[in-house]
Amino acid sequence: MLDLHTHVLPGLDDGAVDLAAGLALCRRLHEQGVTTVVATPHWHSPRFEVEGAGIAQAWEALRALVSAELPRLILVLGAEHHCSGLEAPAAFVAGCRPLGDSPVVLVELPDDHVPANAWATLFALIRAGRRPVLAHPERCRGLRGQREQVAALVEAGGLLQLTLGHLLGVHGWRMRWHSRALLRRHPAACLIASDSHDLGVRRPQWDRLPAGWRRFVPTDLESVSSWGSLKDLGKV
Ligand SMILES: [Fe+2]
Repeated sequence: MLDLHTHVLPGLDDGAVDLAAGLALCRRLHEQGVTTVVATPHWHSPRFEVEGAGIAQAWEALRALVSAELPRLILVLGAEHHCSGLEAPAAFVAGCRPLGDSPVVLVELPDDHVPANAWATLFALIRAGRRPVLAHPERCRGLRGQREQVAALVEAGGLLQLTLGHLLGVHGWRMRWHSRALLRRHPAACLIASDSHDLGVRRPQWDRLPAGWRRFVPTDLESVSSWGSLKDLGKV
């Protein structure tokens, strides 16, 4: 299994607090059946001051430790790129950090609104040959009144990353309701990831993944690039 959204990189944001915590999180993910972990630190989020040099340093440290302690776990570097509306679409595209060598870009919207240039930004990514994945769209209250725009994005090749804890109801009935509604509405465009931050409230929950949802979890990054065929997913 691939987990394409995690905060295992230490000391950068609200994820792993230090190297030991980052390793412990990777170990838990691996124990729960994850074979590839994508580290997606917050990027351009107004809540954290994360710089490229800091990411590089945290990445090198964790990668070395994981390869020594968990040699069968594949660790990939990515980012969760916040779309605040302050960046012009072209600048966003030029400065985005895809997941590993793939064309996949994880994009987070603010919780309370959809920035005016968000759709232009997402479609600019597609025109540039990237594959945008909206991080936990169930959390963005502004998206709830923009079903047509979400459908247009999905039709153009955009994907929706639902958070497993939300689907399971760990974070309340609203998140459960909205994440399951998106899964029903856009089954071919949905992917499940953990967005794990720690071993506490936002811990990995892959051991609770219902068998019927396994089809929404990619095996590797290559399969995300071509994700979205109902035929491939089977009956949903
Ligand atoms: Fe995240």
